[in-house]
Amino acid sequence: MTSELRPITSKLGATPRLNALASYVPKATRVFVDVGTNHAILPILVARRTHAKLSIGIDRSLQALQEAERRVRRSHCARRIELRSGDGLAGLAPNEIEVICLAGLAPINMVKILTVGLAVMHGHAVRLLLHPLGGSEQPRAFLAANGFELVTDTTVMSRGRECTLLVADRPA
Ligand SMILES: C[S@@+](CC[C@H](N)C(=O)[O-])C[C@H]1O[C@@H](n2cnc3c(N)ncnc32)[C@H](O)[C@@H]1O
Repeated sequence: MTSELRPITSKLGATPRLNALASYVPKATRVFVDVGTNHAILPILVARRTHAKLSIGIDRSLQALQEAERRVRRSHCARRIELRSGDGLAGLAPNEIEVICLAGLAPINMVKILTVGLAVMHGHAVRLLLHPLGGSEQPRAFLAANGFELVTDTTVMSRGRECTLLVADRPA
């Protein structure tokens, strides 16, 4: 075994914020999607902690996805994780709309992704996990205007920073 392929354990880099987000993914979730996954830490956490058949990490940065790929290979869950190069929710299949996370994104970008993604989410029950960076007013307004019920509205201290986490459900 080369050092590059040593399994990821404590070095996964899961912060209190990412652990909290993972805790809002119901155990029975079939497909989890992380938009703006960066190094795929959240899809790996979800694959480890839930029975999800598939954890999808999407990012528009090829550089981020290269590092994500390395981490996924070392995660012991690679068969249940898929990485995709893409923009927002574009390209998701109808049966992949279930629990979707957007974390560490500026509110304006988050709302843009969600607004464009409304067509993809239409007609499907969906849970959104949101961690807006720098103000939650715009995502809250989006949720209220589009029929989402806020089921969790909390803050988590993570690496010295207060993070707002919003969990919202919408029926089909
Ligand atoms: C600050 S990182 C956050 C990473 C991770 N979600 C977290 O919370 O730790 C933001 C990531 O989102 C990606 N990103 C930003 N806009 C995106 C979009 N429209 N579609 C896909 N990825 C996007 C960036 O390339 C970057 O990797």
